Amino acid sequence: MPTPTCTFWAARNWEPWARILVPLSPDLLQRLQARLESLPDGLQAHIYRVRDVALELAAPHGIDLQRAELGTLAHDVCRAVPGGDLLKMSAELGVSVSDVELDFPLLLHGPVGAELLRREDDLTDHELYEAVRWHSTAHASLDPLGKLVFLADKLDPQKAAVYSYQSKLHDMALESLDLALLEFLSREMAVRFERGETVHPASVDARNSLILKLRS
Ligand SMILES: [Fe+2]
Ligand SMILES: [Fe+2]
Repeated sequence: MPTPTCTFWAARNWEPWARILVPLSPDLLQRLQARLESLPDGLQAHIYRVRDVALELAAPHGIDLQRAELGTLAHDVCRAVPGGDLLKMSAELGVSVSDVELDFPLLLHGPVGAELLRREDDLTDHELYEAVRWHSTAHASLDPLGKLVFLADKLDPQKAAVYSYQSKLHDMALESLDLALLEFLSREMAVRFERGETVHPASVDARNSLILKLRS
């Protein structure tokens, strides 16, 4: 495999194995790469777009590029797993399931993915584990890397139709991960409240934590 480079902006048409741009732990990287190659093409494309967004946002916030890349490459390894299978895997892996997740099991693809990578692929880094685990709901304990992975996932350009305010969110994320995360959570919760839908308790806690932090 050629030595990776940091010219990520020129990498969009590379073969998947060549899109690993920042040197990482070789074992973890190889195992993760094998998982990515087994995913549906559309999901792989999403993951690499998210990686590109994360690399753009990482530098202004002093976040290590290797960790930004690994966190985003790892975040959706279980996104293609059906909800029923996620519930079975949660039981096998010891992942706790809340009532909200039982009602909408796809929310488990982050926690299940993180635990699978920890057990099988040597994902021992706590911050990376948490970033993968909470990338769908956020969590009050997320550090800058976790916030970056969460926001990069929502800033995939292909999701612009889903999030009409995506351009504003992108600009906010360049300035402040906290303000951008609060903006996203507030907007999405308002939509869910309006529709009478559930809100994951971790999202509520994360939003409360951000409001209190930004107020102080
Ligand atoms: Fe996801
Ligand atoms: Fe994703």
